[in-house]
Amino acid sequence: MVDRTGTPLVELRDISISFGGIKAVDHVTVDLYPGEVVGLLGHNGAGKSTLIKCLSGAYKADQGDILINGQKVEINNPRDARSQNIETIYQTLALADNLDAASNLFLGRELVNGLGFVDETKMEAETRKIMARLNPNFRKFNVPVSMPRS
Ligand SMILES: Nc1ncnc2c1ncn2[C@@H]1O[C@H](COP(=O)(O)OP(=O)(O)OP(=O)(O)O)[C@@H](O)[C@H]1O
Ligand SMILES: [Mg+2]
Repeated sequence: MVDRTGTPLVELRDISISFGGIKAVDHVTVDLYPGEVVGLLGHNGAGKSTLIKCLSGAYKADQGDILINGQKVEINNPRDARSQNIETIYQTLALADNLDAASNLFLGRELVNGLGFVDETKMEAETRKIMARLNPNFRKFNVPVSMPRS
């Protein structure tokens, strides 16, 4: 049972954003508590994705505040969101199909060696560990993900 009495982990307060004349999100307030799993429901075009994009830094809300552990934070881009441990997994397929699995997995957060160069060996090793859990049959580590499976 989630304790909803303390400070929320994430608060969206009175968030609004418009695109031209369309009010995509209109004064929305949401509290999220540690350990809570929340579903956001609404018809097509209700504003669900837009609200989440405000939290994930893809859009900047016209109005409202975002608080993490009770502190107001500025989320101006996805990097700011990530620094607050906010990750977004989009419903649409979001792979860079010209890159291999490791490059996709670490896109934007590439592992680097002591000299600051991208450490492809380490990225592949980490990817192999993760894929062993997700899909042990996956073998195509060194080809673009667009390549058909055989
Ligand atoms: N970048 C944009 N430019 C203009 N209008 C937009 C943009 N993004 C969303 N909208 C509009 O804002 C409204 C909310 O769209 P949004 O995609 O957030 O809805 P949704 O609840 O996620 O819908 P769905 O269930 O179809 O995913 C819609 O009217 C949509 O057309
Ligand atoms: Mg959507």
